[in-house]
Amino acid sequence: MKEDLASVNRAFSMQSDQYDEYDASNGILTWMRKRVRGHVLAQLKPGDRILELNAGTGLDALFFVQQGYTVYATDLSDGMVKQIQQKITEKNLSPKLSVKQCSYTQLQTLQSEKFDYVFSNFGGLNCIPDLRAVTQQLPALLNPGARITFVIMPPVCFWEIGKVFKGKWKEAFRRFKKKGSMAHLEGEYFPTFYFSPADVLRAFGNDYKKISLEGLATFSPPPHADRFPMKHPRMYRLLTKLDEQLASIPPFRSWADHFILTVQYSPVQNK
Ligand SMILES: C[S@@+](CC[C@H](N)C(=O)[O-])C[C@H]1O[C@@H](n2cnc3c(N)ncnc32)[C@H](O)[C@@H]1O
Repeated sequence: MKEDLASVNRAFSMQSDQYDEYDASNGILTWMRKRVRGHVLAQLKPGDRILELNAGTGLDALFFVQQGYTVYATDLSDGMVKQIQQKITEKNLSPKLSVKQCSYTQLQTLQSEKFDYVFSNFGGLNCIPDLRAVTQQLPALLNPGARITFVIMPPVCFWEIGKVFKGKWKEAFRRFKKKGSMAHLEGEYFPTFYFSPADVLRAFGNDYKKISLEGLATFSPPPHADRFPMKHPRMYRLLTKLDEQLASIPPFRSWADHFILTVQYSPVQNK
């Protein structure tokens, strides 16, 4: 299967108006976003210039601008880009936050820019079959020593495999389909692809070294189980505590709803 950028654009554009409201109302997403932001803040240096890929409505971009960083947010979707532009205008964020509509497979359109950090959150990169389409463009955009954090959905997620007990075989094993499986969002269908941390590191190649890897929601449920924290608050707290304790330990750092992987650009000729 090949990526389908037109369907992805339509699906996420339809979601874009309600995206922030849903995000704020979903306790699982709130916990996951806090973990991702904590991870990134621990890697950033003062004054870093961040390139955000698949930035959605700009929730994280806004957060990092509020922490004093400069963010260049990019996304494919008309609706998502409109939401970011609205935030820039309403909160008067230019030039600390800027936005450009572009696919992360077409980053050559940014080539006059240089960045210290590249960030992609919540599985935006799971919409293409081969991550080299992104990683091979990065060297032209990176300052020496730049770091990159990708938050990606891996093939093994206990909560999805558990759907087998509800007889939902197709859903339980959809992440294992090497050639991709169809996602259904807002009436649109588009292929999604799942990558292990090893797949992602292979796509980066020898010019990048691994800095940090942690699982995100290994034991605690994924965002679509949004009623779980309200129905079982103590259990949810316990599971997130377990996640926080074991996030960096194999195999839990790779078997989760998402994983957070940070690498550093260290070109081989400079080593
Ligand atoms: C699940 S949302 C995540 C958005 C945001 N990172 C967040 O944390 O809320 C996935 C995003 O990926 C974007 N996306 C998907 N394929 C893309 C591509 N080829 N280039 C750029 N953005 C893309 C979608 O438009 C959507 O905004």
